[in-house]
Amino acid sequence: MLIRPTLGVKLILSVSLLVISMAVVLSSFFVCKQKAIIENELRNRGLSLSKNLAYNSEYGLLFENKEMLNKLIQGVLKNDDIAFVAVCDQNSKIIASIVNSTLWIDFLKGVRTTHSTINQYSYKGKSVYDIIAPVSTIRRVNKGESLIFDSQIGQTKSQENIGFVRVGILLENKEKTVKTIQMIAFFISLLVIMVGIVWTVLLARRITQPIKQLVRVTARVAEGDLCRFVNGKIRHDEIGDLTAAFNTMTEKLSESAKQIEEYLQTLEQKVEDRTSELKEANERLKKQDELKSNFLSVAAHELRTPLTSMRAFSELLLEDPDGDVNTRNDFLKIMKEEAERLARLINDILDLSKIEAGKATWHMKDISMIEVVQTAINGIKGYIVQQGIFLSVDVPEHLSVVTADHDKLIQVVVNLLNNALKFVNHEGRIGVKIYETVAAAAEVITAISNTGHGIPPEKLASVFERFCQIENIPTEVKGTGLGLTICKEIVEHLGGRIWVESEIDKKTTFFFSLPVKGAISLPVVNEGGGESPCSV
Ligand SMILES: Nc1ncnc2c1ncn2[C@@H]1O[C@H](COP(=O)(O)OP(=O)(O)OP(=O)(O)O)[C@@H](O)[C@H]1O
Ligand SMILES: [Mg+2]
Repeated sequence: MLIRPTLGVKLILSVSLLVISMAVVLSSFFVCKQKAIIENELRNRGLSLSKNLAYNSEYGLLFENKEMLNKLIQGVLKNDDIAFVAVCDQNSKIIASIVNSTLWIDFLKGVRTTHSTINQYSYKGKSVYDIIAPVSTIRRVNKGESLIFDSQIGQTKSQENIGFVRVGILLENKEKTVKTIQMIAFFISLLVIMVGIVWTVLLARRITQPIKQLVRVTARVAEGDLCRFVNGKIRHDEIGDLTAAFNTMTEKLSESAKQIEEYLQTLEQKVEDRTSELKEANERLKKQDELKSNFLSVAAHELRTPLTSMRAFSELLLEDPDGDVNTRNDFLKIMKEEAERLARLINDILDLSKIEAGKATWHMKDISMIEVVQTAINGIKGYIVQQGIFLSVDVPEHLSVVTADHDKLIQVVVNLLNNALKFVNHEGRIGVKIYETVAAAAEVITAISNTGHGIPPEKLASVFERFCQIENIPTEVKGTGLGLTICKEIVEHLGGRIWVESEIDKKTTFFFSLPVKGAISLPVVNEGGGESPCSV
């Protein structure tokens, strides 16, 4: 398994390594430096002791006064670390010496040099500085006087070496001191290293703690929990900036997620709405398709009826060319009526199809309903007089104009008047009334009524459907059943409404309304309402 060191471990390792190396290097440097200082100081001390002794030993050595020399040596031996002190003549013969251990007696026998030197020796497990200082003197002769000796330390041209002194300084003390220094350096280094490591661990924790928290929160966010934030004390460094940026990011993410959720909900709602609209449209189309199929079958049937009748009578006429004149005339009259009915039917079907297909031409202009009604009545006036029908016309003095197609409006009024004439009973009363409503949605309403059989309440809505003809209503002229359908299509196309009210065995009133020019159009309502304004 691949071991992946964490950032904290890496940081601790690298900083610890740095601290350890620094501590080792610095402590080694310090120990070396201290050692050099101690050695230097020891040598200088030895040199100064030996030079002093050499200076003081001049007379003792010239006169080989051992007692004097021993006293001088005793003075030097007061120092603890002195191993031996010896005064030798120029032939390296020891004149006086003192050793602090017998092991140095043999060591002193070996003469190395008479010059001023410092040598380090290891002898029988002991280290020693063997410091040699020459003893010199200046010889002068004054006239008539005996010999006088004068001496001085140092090399001059007139100087003469008469021997040398040897001072042995033990290095044991120095080594002890160095060891102590080493120990101190070691413990200080250890302390520094430990403090460094502890500090590094704390630092690593301080750095990695928020990063770990960030990683944890990021994982939660990645799992989809967008409402997660990094909490805790705000730090004023790069990690603090990173935390703040992360929190801003999650805040924006959660806002975006909320918006997306809202969009999704709206989208779902829209899809639902559209689906239900589509379903409704589909239903409507199905219904229309059904209506079309019905219309086609009914239209075919309606077309066949007059044709069959005409064919039957023409065959009868052909079969009996010499038949009774009156009978033949009756047959021809029926055939003529059927032909006219057929022509009407075809015209009505064509009109209806044109309107429904939106192919009818509409010549819109401002029209007064009074004029329209008047024109329509003029067309049937002769018939009314002939039939002895009582017609009452009630129109206001002033009437607002409507915007409509003149010919199509006449077609509506003529259809309704024809129905009134067709279905009027023996009382023979027909009424026409025009009036205007006063409202924001002002309308001009035309009501055409007739006394008669009446339409049963359950049939009131269906009279406007194609080919609807109510049975049991006595009529002389057989219609097509399309008149009211055409009226409805025209009125609704002009923004109006059409409805019927009927009282059985009393009267039937057809109303249609058209919006006054400039008024607000009302939605189309197919049912009647209110009291009949027609007095028949
Ligand atoms: N004034 C009325 N009184 C009683 N019933 C009526 C009246 N007007 C219409 N109807 C009923 O409504 C049916 C449909 O009328 P519609 O005008 O559409 O057809 P129609 O008059 O039979 O034929 P046409 O297409 O020639 O007008 C009529 O057949 C009739 O049964
Ligand atoms: Mg009719």
